[in-house]
Amino acid sequence: MSTRDELQATIEQLVQKGKGILAADESSPTIAKRFDSIGVESTLEHRRQYRSLILETPNLGNFISGIILFEETLGQQADDGTALPELAARQGVVPGIKVDKGKLALPGSPGDEITQGLDGLAERLEGYKKQGARFAKWRNVYHISPSNPSPLAVEANAEMLARYAAICQAQGIVPIVEPEVLMDGDHTIERCAEVSEVVLHALFHALHRHRVVLEHTLLKPSMVTPGKDHPVPAEPVQVAEETVRILRRTVPAALPSINFLSGGQSPEEATANLNAMNCLSSQPWELSFSYGRALQQPALKAWKGEPKNRPAAQAALYRRAELNGAARLGRYQKAMEDSEV
Ligand code: 13P
Repeated sequence: MSTRDELQATIEQLVQKGKGILAADESSPTIAKRFDSIGVESTLEHRRQYRSLILETPNLGNFISGIILFEETLGQQADDGTALPELAARQGVVPGIKVDKGKLALPGSPGDEITQGLDGLAERLEGYKKQGARFAKWRNVYHISPSNPSPLAVEANAEMLARYAAICQAQGIVPIVEPEVLMDGDHTIERCAEVSEVVLHALFHALHRHRVVLEHTLLKPSMVTPGKDHPVPAEPVQVAEETVRILRRTVPAALPSINFLSGGQSPEEATANLNAMNCLSSQPWELSFSYGRALQQPALKAWKGEPKNRPAAQAALYRRAELNGAARLGRYQKAMEDSEV
């Protein structure tokens, strides 16, 4: 298969009506934080058990089209010896891989950060592909303050994301580009909209400069919301209208799908906001999810590290996936939280 056909086939599997992506690619410090919240120590074995539990959730593929894994998970096996990426593939879920190497302070730009991991990326991708990965994710973050992100941070981060995306496509790996405008702070929704517009505008300019094929790229943005310390939270319809307004100004129609991150929203908020977007008039791209916490939180709480809680944890994950599947079609209602879909 040519690289182009390979990319197209992966896009078609990832972008399906009523389905979205599950982000299960927490880095070692992040999964330690999540496990800490349920009193479980983050050992290699606990991480293997938890991630096998996720991938063995019966019928996960009904609402999940792709799963983003951490490098460690790509090489792990379920109890019966099946490689975890193979387990995903058997469920009809495309395995993907987080390829960035985390962030550090951006020199010369106080308060801003930059993501690292480009060195040797092409070679790493070759290896990940042999292990079954067909798409990748790279996350850059943008802090909001009166002076952040600086124009330098906006340009440098856009350039990084575009370089990553171009390298992925050359290897036949679909890139998910994730520019996350952080919710931290007490800023207004208008300020978030202003920053998101600048960030996305610079990103798509850079993707164009680097000859990234938009038809074979997915965008994973944050929604436009007030900061989490802002005194007045926004209603889903306001988040939906502001987010879609900014996306329509900045994201070309050639991009097949926009898969939001949840970024600290509660599972219910993330589902309601996505649903509100899919209730607006039709858009040039699919509006879907690539949630981490908003899909996994209830499952983690149900699991608590106990093998006997496995079925309850899988049921909780399946339930959130199902509700987000409904939100993907604009068919979610709050009352479904307490009833069978
Ligand atoms: P959240 O949905 O928990 O923000 O995670 C998505 C993700 O992949 C962040 O990089």
